[in-house]
Amino acid sequence: MKSVVSYPERGEGGNNKYRGNCSPRLLEDLFGFYRPKKVFDPMCGSGTTHDVCLKLGIDHDVLDLNPQYGGWDALRDEIPGVYDMIFWHPPYADIIKYSGYMWGRPDQRDLSQIPLSKYPEFIKRINFIQKKLFTSLSRGGRIAILVGDIKKNGRLYSMQRDMAWIGTPEQVVIKAQHNCWSDQVNYSGKFIPIVHEYLLIFRKDDCIVLPCTVSVQTEINWKKEERLSWRTAVRLALEGLGGKADLHKLYKELESFAATKKHSDPQAKVRQVLQTKPEFYSIDRGVWGLKQVA
Ligand SMILES: C[S@@+](CC[C@H](N)C(=O)[O-])C[C@H]1O[C@@H](n2cnc3c(N)ncnc32)[C@H](O)[C@@H]1O
Repeated sequence: MKSVVSYPERGEGGNNKYRGNCSPRLLEDLFGFYRPKKVFDPMCGSGTTHDVCLKLGIDHDVLDLNPQYGGWDALRDEIPGVYDMIFWHPPYADIIKYSGYMWGRPDQRDLSQIPLSKYPEFIKRINFIQKKLFTSLSRGGRIAILVGDIKKNGRLYSMQRDMAWIGTPEQVVIKAQHNCWSDQVNYSGKFIPIVHEYLLIFRKDDCIVLPCTVSVQTEINWKKEERLSWRTAVRLALEGLGGKADLHKLYKELESFAATKKHSDPQAKVRQVLQTKPEFYSIDRGVWGLKQVA
């Protein structure tokens, strides 16, 4: 196994009709490398992990909210054992819906019922389950989590970046995706299709205390930045005013920038920037515009 894997031929096991199923060959490589004694898959889908473990003679438990695999809820139900390897392949929010589509009726406990508009709630549940799964890992055991990035309406939702990283990070494997439904869509060159997933591997080195890295979203507000050049401040202010403005409005807007506060004659400085920098042009007397990027 290397840090980039690709399995154009899916291999034997599980069911390739079960949407979002993974290649048995990935699991064969993973288990072949780490040689686990007992494997758990809490969201086994079409049973790929079960089939691979049978083939390799590895003791295992596989469960899923799908009644075919126990109707077991990873959020509330107890994990049945202790394992030295957990393979976890959760839904990617509602990109592929499971309950009501792949099995049974829509079930609110199903992570794929959480719409992308509630992405923070989805990540919260992913983090909760991940933490819970660690309780059933033996010391030195590993969890391998297969996750993908989601692109919708021009925005990237990167699960591997947004979820907590619990335990000792050991490996990131990039897995090429093949035979996705999106392969049949013609995006007319307007969209870079995502054709990879991440297999994140973490180790449990301690029983009581584990490292945990949580991604926090914050924001940059250029108005609050003190270390901003006058040139940048004038451009950002003009951009914010729609690309053109009279000097009066521009002076007023720039008053709210921390970076411009200390100058003895800010209005003269604004005029100097406008007259000397090529990204600005005079539209009329006292009216300035921002050139389009050519
Ligand atoms: C991406 S699929 C797994 C595919 C599997 N690796 C395979 O090869 O077929 C995700 C699975 O998570 C299950 N699931 C969703 N929410 C769950 C929950 N709360 N508890 C347990 N399983 C859940 C879904 O039923 C679905 O089968």
